[in-house]
Amino acid sequence: MNVHDPGPPGGPGLTVRDLAVNYGPVTALRGVSLDVPRGAVVTVLGGNGAGKSTLLRAISGTLRFHRGGITAGTVTFGGERLSGAGTSAVVAHGVVQVPEGRKVFARMTVEENLRAGALGAPGRGAAAEARERVLTLFPVLAERARQRAGLLSGGEQQMLAIGRALMARPRMLLLDEPTLGLAPMMATRIAETVREINAQGTTVLLVEQNAALALSLASHAYVLEVGEVVLSGPAAELAESDEVRRRYLGIGDDRDEALTAGAPAARPTLTRWSA
Ligand SMILES: Nc1ncnc2c1ncn2[C@@H]1O[C@H](COP(=O)(O)OP(=O)(O)O)[C@@H](O)[C@H]1O
Ligand SMILES: [Mg+2]
Repeated sequence: MNVHDPGPPGGPGLTVRDLAVNYGPVTALRGVSLDVPRGAVVTVLGGNGAGKSTLLRAISGTLRFHRGGITAGTVTFGGERLSGAGTSAVVAHGVVQVPEGRKVFARMTVEENLRAGALGAPGRGAAAEARERVLTLFPVLAERARQRAGLLSGGEQQMLAIGRALMARPRMLLLDEPTLGLAPMMATRIAETVREINAQGTTVLLVEQNAALALSLASHAYVLEVGEVVLSGPAAELAESDEVRRRYLGIGDDRDEALTAGAPAARPTLTRWSA
């Protein structure tokens, strides 16, 4: 099978088992396990400093650029081990990260940024096809092809960052807070695009502080707090859970009180870890 073949939906996707990550003496993740079935959108929620970016770096093999390292656990994709493989090996397996803060090459043109994303992807025909896909998803990038990336708006830079990642023809996209700092309308645009990219066959792991948006996209969600998974389950059920509503959706207690009489006591499919 070609490494870029998306394969059958629902096959073995990404598996993280008992992952621990340190930055020098600082432990940023411990005992993290998570599954992203092939073809799915899964989200990881959590506040600032919870370890969301660290998790994506551990998957993409980029921890070393942040002076961090995996101290325990494994990451596999499609049954093959990613942990311990270098960044380029992870990309070759079809797993591509869009880093936090939309790091486009500001002084390069939009076109050059996209071309840089295709480096390492096999074949010129494949690159042309990937480019076509990106420009169809984001027509504004075609309009601005010869502009410097640094002159784009925040939302357009995020589109370029995602577009550049798509140039590597990923089977799986790791998205680190793609809507952070964007106006609500632009955030919605990005969300719609993520849905479309997924519908075209790309598996997505989405890390977000915007819980409402992320839960609307994902089938399954995990909540990270101080480096540990504290809650996980189907996204629709997490969106209904009191804890997620209060802490991540900013919804108060009034509904909870209204529901106390006769409310279902527990939602059995949600899994809770106790520290
Ligand atoms: N390069 C680094 N060196 C040392 N500590 C780091 C580094 N990057 C992140 N951390 C620490 O690891 C923890 C998780 O950070 P991070 O993964 O960036 O969280 P999030 O993305 O959820 O905001 C935090 O306590 C943070 O201070
Ligand atoms: Mg982060």
